Amino acid sequence: MADNKFKRTLITTALPYANGPVHIGHLAGVYVPADIYARYLRLKGEEVLMIGGSDEHGVPIALKAKAEGITPQEVVDRYHNIIKRSFEEFGISFDIYSRTTSKIHAELASEFFRTLYEKGEFIEQTSSQYYDEEAKQFLADRYITGKCPHCGNERAYGDQCESCGTSLSPTDLINPKSAISGSVPVMKETTHWYLPLNKHEAFLKEWILEGHKEWKSNVYGQCKSWLDMGLQPRAVSRDLDWGIPVPVKGAEGKVLYVWFDAPIGYISNTKELLPDSWEKWWKQEDTKLVHFIGKDNIVFHCIVFPSMLKAEGSYILPENVPANEFLNLEGDKISTSRNWAVWLHEYLNDFPEKQDVLRYVLTANAPETKDNDFTWKDFQARNNNELVAILGNFVNRALVLTHKYFDGKVPERNEYTDYDHDTLAEFAGIKQNLEHNLENYRFRDALKEAMNLARIGNKYLADTEPWKIAKTDMGKVATIMNLSLQITANLAIAFEPFLPFSSSRLKEMLRIDSLNWSQLGSDNLLEAGHQLGSPFLLFEKIEDAAIEAQIQKLLDTKKANELKEHKAAPAKTNISFDDFMKMDIRIGTILEAELVPKTSKLIKLKIDTGIDQRTVVSGIAEYFKPEEIIGQQVSVLVNLEPRKLKGIESQGMILMAENADGKLVFVQPSAKVIPGSEVR
Ligand code: 2FM
Ligand code: ZN
Repeated sequence: MADNKFKRTLITTALPYANGPVHIGHLAGVYVPADIYARYLRLKGEEVLMIGGSDEHGVPIALKAKAEGITPQEVVDRYHNIIKRSFEEFGISFDIYSRTTSKIHAELASEFFRTLYEKGEFIEQTSSQYYDEEAKQFLADRYITGKCPHCGNERAYGDQCESCGTSLSPTDLINPKSAISGSVPVMKETTHWYLPLNKHEAFLKEWILEGHKEWKSNVYGQCKSWLDMGLQPRAVSRDLDWGIPVPVKGAEGKVLYVWFDAPIGYISNTKELLPDSWEKWWKQEDTKLVHFIGKDNIVFHCIVFPSMLKAEGSYILPENVPANEFLNLEGDKISTSRNWAVWLHEYLNDFPEKQDVLRYVLTANAPETKDNDFTWKDFQARNNNELVAILGNFVNRALVLTHKYFDGKVPERNEYTDYDHDTLAEFAGIKQNLEHNLENYRFRDALKEAMNLARIGNKYLADTEPWKIAKTDMGKVATIMNLSLQITANLAIAFEPFLPFSSSRLKEMLRIDSLNWSQLGSDNLLEAGHQLGSPFLLFEKIEDAAIEAQIQKLLDTKKANELKEHKAAPAKTNISFDDFMKMDIRIGTILEAELVPKTSKLIKLKIDTGIDQRTVVSGIAEYFKPEEIIGQQVSVLVNLEPRKLKGIESQGMILMAENADGKLVFVQPSAKVIPGSEVR
């Protein structure tokens, strides 16, 4: 290991809430980097565990159940399975993926609470909190909504405003409302247990600010600002009917706060996997504990959970918490409730077997130091210009040429030239760079190094041009192909952590089973005479049409959201009164209406405008049946230049407005008027 103080590595990954499927933001922020790290350590032959699971308690789950009229257990059963399956499909190599509704977790979390309780590590405090008199329930966190005092967002939650990201407490909200009944809540007294974080402040300052200066600057910076502000006691129980009951007398109706029980889930899932040896992973100083999380979880993993572990007394603390920033989607924050996401299960429907392409793009563009943006154009470009053009192209050329000149057998190599030696030296250096980046949680840079290996291969083939000397110097061609194939085998090692599916397909093509990290950089991975399998393409070009379909899907989502939120289109630039007066709008009566043949949207109308009877073609067939609108009064812009639609001249335009579900309705007078009446 890099740091020989440690004998094993315990990797934990944030437990996603089981109230919806997982999307690219989850993958990019937490699970792909954790998986790269775990696979790398396993390839090195180290003892490593990667722990995951679903976070199944808390208000978000309870709210989802209420909204759908089902039980919280039904909610988590549904999503736990969907999430677990997505992770499996993307090759996230958990040693266990369990859940916080397991029996073993309830027991361990209760026991943890009781230990702290008995050691006097909590303080009990009574305070006034919002209470919904209609629902007869206290309103914790997300059960309460109102206006954000910072940005004015009308839909801020009691714990956070999702619009500006500020942490809130329920009493900060302006015009608070119960998310259950919609009623205005009242204040009522309730008693809870608090973890006095202030008591651990001095220790945390020393441990993080002095002892862990190597943490990523976004993590260190957030911890420092919390610690500089000074820590307050934090409630670890809630008045709620969904969660693990607080295991002390007099706590009826109270459950453990989800942020108290969830991180304990890492421990209980380890215990579920290794009932006899889990303590070695959590209690021995020679275990390196690393938490992979997103930036919104930093305070819980760097301040709250370590305080809990420290207070308990028998556990180790994390060695590192390489939290990522957020991934946005086409310029907007990913949001489950607004369906602004690329869902993993939908991605695989649209791009079957292209898990590695997404893993690649999310790593190449990972939000490691700042928020980043996922765009479909970038996805396409990285696939076509990097995976296909560099990696896939090199592998394919190496295999195809070997089949062409040597019947698919690794040729015996002859003396290396200086250029061969230089190439070899270059790819030997890549191992060190890769390791350095991987061990410092810089996965983007590590991936670039792996790609450089393929670049070296491409350059080598382009410079040596074996196809040109095949007629004159087969001995030289043999050396070139041998070295090219050795580079190819190296690629199977270097890419295994990043692109496990492609790496194993590559190994299949090379007909080799196992490779380990220590072999990276070697030019003796394939013996002369070894028979290779048939070449096939590792990656294929993604066409514009597939990308445009994804972009269209997002545009549709945006449109639907705007309608849902009744968001008015932005105002257009001012026009003069004279311009307005140029429009001649009249009330007319529909005399006749018929569908325009061979179209699904157009209706041909005959309208009595008071001036004349004229034909107007209007795109309203999706919303009205022709026979239903005869006799209705409508507003018609009568001096619009006539234009032809499907060969029919349309003499004017009917004014329409869109209602909440996107349906068009007529703009009509509120009382009957005579045809020809001017709209002013
Ligand atoms: O933010 C979240 O999605 C939480 N469910 C993460 C929990 S991490 C842990 F503590 F389990
Ligand atoms: Zn706000």
